[in-house]
Amino acid sequence: MKDFKKRLCIEQLLATTELKEVNSSDVIRGLTQLPKTLPAKYFYDARGSQLFEEICNLPEYYLTRTETAILRHCADEIASLTGACELVELGSGSSTKTRILLDAYNQLGKPLRYLPIDVSESILESSTHALLADYPCLQIHGLVSTYEIALEKLAPSPLPTRMICFLGSTLGNFHPQECDIFLLQIAKALQKGDYFLLGIDLHKSKEIIEPAYNDSQGVTAAFNLNILNHLNWRFEGNFDTDEFEHWAFYNQELRQIEMHLRSKRSQTVYLRALDLKVEFSPGETIQTEISRKFDLNIMYSDLQKRGLAPLKVWTDTKQWFALLLCQRQT
Ligand code: AVJ
Repeated sequence: MKDFKKRLCIEQLLATTELKEVNSSDVIRGLTQLPKTLPAKYFYDARGSQLFEEICNLPEYYLTRTETAILRHCADEIASLTGACELVELGSGSSTKTRILLDAYNQLGKPLRYLPIDVSESILESSTHALLADYPCLQIHGLVSTYEIALEKLAPSPLPTRMICFLGSTLGNFHPQECDIFLLQIAKALQKGDYFLLGIDLHKSKEIIEPAYNDSQGVTAAFNLNILNHLNWRFEGNFDTDEFEHWAFYNQELRQIEMHLRSKRSQTVYLRALDLKVEFSPGETIQTEISRKFDLNIMYSDLQKRGLAPLKVWTDTKQWFALLLCQRQT
């Protein structure tokens, strides 16, 4: 246990009042515009992170198992390409897939520092404690933070290289312009020669994509509705989750899943901490997430444009998912 303290530090970057104001402004903006929206990061309170773990194990949710299989296949190659490195992970969650990479670095005997970043403090705590127990040499510096704040605050790596990992196709939550800004932030947090490991879900038939967001057990619905519980807790709100329903569909034209919560009737919700009254007409929705499905060639050129040249790409045999290892050029 003493040893744990030396090997683990968790920094909370979301607690200051200043940041709370920054945080709440996106909720106010989202709920006062038409159509209403909410930032997807609000899914991930303790319960939401747990529900997302359940989603990853659903038969319909092909993303996690496909990416895991790709990682198993290429982890050794990634570890030998980068050598000793500081592994920064955005949205680390349970760090389950990351273990495949940690094992590969371990086997090569490469020193490793792990910087998991997640907005959920509880999942960061449980995942890092489990990692300390299983990886006796691992040094962990966790950040409870949004991506933007964490990327801005990253100190230079004490190891020869840094690799920022962004797995699970979470990039798909960003609209194209946001994606552009995000890639700039990534490039800024890297030095010449550093790496960016990106996992993306590829465009495919609607018959495969849609069930992944409409699972038969209703876990995705519970995950979607839980965002309202999170807002109730964080902003003293009175959303009644029974008065909303899950709605997700694939927008073929924009190549994105759109996930909404639909108000079952006319209702008014009040968020006390924000002094915000939100009115809903029957059937009105809040868009809680987009999940874009990418074209590999377009992604190549987007990354290249941002100075993050793809060095290697791995896909599964069905070409459902891709993992790209990129390197900052200049
Ligand atoms: C974690 C953002 C990649 O978009 O597939 C899963 C989240 N939403 N089911 C995704 C999610 C509904 C997931 N990401």
